[in-house]
Amino acid sequence: MAGHLTLAIVKPDAYASRKAGLIIAHLEREGFTVLAAQVKHLTRAEAGAFYDVHKERPFYGELVEFMTSGPCVPLVLHREDAVAHLRTVIGATDPKEAAEGTIRKLHAESKGRNAIHASDSDDNAARETRFFFAETQFLR
Ligand code: RTP
Ligand code: MG
Repeated sequence: MAGHLTLAIVKPDAYASRKAGLIIAHLEREGFTVLAAQVKHLTRAEAGAFYDVHKERPFYGELVEFMTSGPCVPLVLHREDAVAHLRTVIGATDPKEAAEGTIRKLHAESKGRNAIHASDSDDNAARETRFFFAETQFLR
């Protein structure tokens, strides 16, 4: 399934404003199948580890604070060319720069509170799916 799986997270801003269902429906319209899902309130240690790649960046503290501010919804998604297609569907990091019709353009508040995460490579998709789920939950 390499190349066909990716990880999305409906972030705490979108979950709190009850947009998780809308966002999952958008993903399904784009041809993604939800293979695994959960509602999870990350601890600081978990959010810090998930975004470890950004630990030297100036926004890291703010990012961990935001990602632990309430529950989020990690999703394992299946589709042809999953990683690249999901990045197109979510839009640019800053909703002001996101293309019309993308999830961030439609639902994100700001660059920091931007509604959804998506893996940015097949290697990170493999790491991130296993961060939240056992393989038995999505490989079948
Ligand atoms: P993500 O990893 O969440 O899918 O987002 P991304 O690839 O579009 O952006 P990335 O550069 O990986 O940044 C991760 C998240 O950090 C927050 N951020 N804030 N205030 C800022 O300048 C800033 N820059 C990044 C965002 O929540 C971004 O999604
Ligand atoms: Mg990223």
